[in-house]
Amino acid sequence: MAKISCVLSVLLLLSPACGAPPRVQLPPAARNELRPVSAFSAIPDERERSSALFLEASRVLLHPRCANCHPNGDVPLQGMDGRLHDPPVTRGPEDRGVVGMECSGCHQDRNLEHARVPGAPNWHLAPLEMAWVGKTPRHICDQMKDPKRNGGKSMAQLIEHNAHDELVGWGWSPGHDREPAPGTQQQFGALIAAWADAGAECPAEGRRP
Ligand code: HEC
Ligand code: HEC
Repeated sequence: MAKISCVLSVLLLLSPACGAPPRVQLPPAARNELRPVSAFSAIPDERERSSALFLEASRVLLHPRCANCHPNGDVPLQGMDGRLHDPPVTRGPEDRGVVGMECSGCHQDRNLEHARVPGAPNWHLAPLEMAWVGKTPRHICDQMKDPKRNGGKSMAQLIEHNAHDELVGWGWSPGHDREPAPGTQQQFGALIAAWADAGAECPAEGRRP
């Protein structure tokens, strides 16, 4: 009898009595859209809600506009397929290139449409301990919360960086024919703030957005 009611309640999507609760179905989102924070209020458990918010935000973090500058190696990446930067450049001792091939030699404080060179103030590569390429949302989440690996940022500074940093902002105005990150920086900032507010929980290893 218990078994039958469990099966039934699973079917009805309300199974408090039988182990792991079923996942709340989130509304669909197009590839270029982010689900708003309000869509996550349907998840009653706060920890589950927090990790779902991070998974949504990781659709931005793992988008090539962000990941190309957070590579797991010494060379910036390019394009939607994350190929190695052409012309060949390396991060150098301070993530700003090497003498004669500094990032700022080509990248200005704004996109140069004619030359197709993307740009934003202080253009340089994210340090290796902030690498995202090839990492899971779980790994990126743990790393982003760790002041030893996030540039010594407090949670408040991390929220601020995601919501207002100019290199982050470039992800939504990348110039030329580059595909922007999904949603808007404002929506993304709100997802990160809501994630932190609900406990900054990291998604289980293996979970994907
Ligand atoms: C032009 C290169 C560049 C681009 C593009 C870029 N970043 Fe970064 N990112 C950096 C650098 C450099 C740092 C280190 C700056 C610091 O610590 O103040 C950084 C650090 C960060 C950090 C804080 C440290 C960490 O990894 O936890 C976050 C969060 C972040 N970036 C988010 C983003 C997001 C989101 C995007 C895309 C929308 C993005 N970045 C695009 C260069 C870039
Ligand atoms: C000799 C000029 C030159 C130098 C030096 C240079 N870049 Fe670039 N970079 C370019 C050009 C041109 C593009 C655009 C390529 C394209 O879209 O076809 C580009 C594209 C990029 C992109 C790709 C954006 C995307 O999402 O597609 C990133 C990231 C990048 N550069 C980072 C850097 C960093 C970091 C440095 C310094 C370590 C650097 N670049 C040094 C010329 C340069």
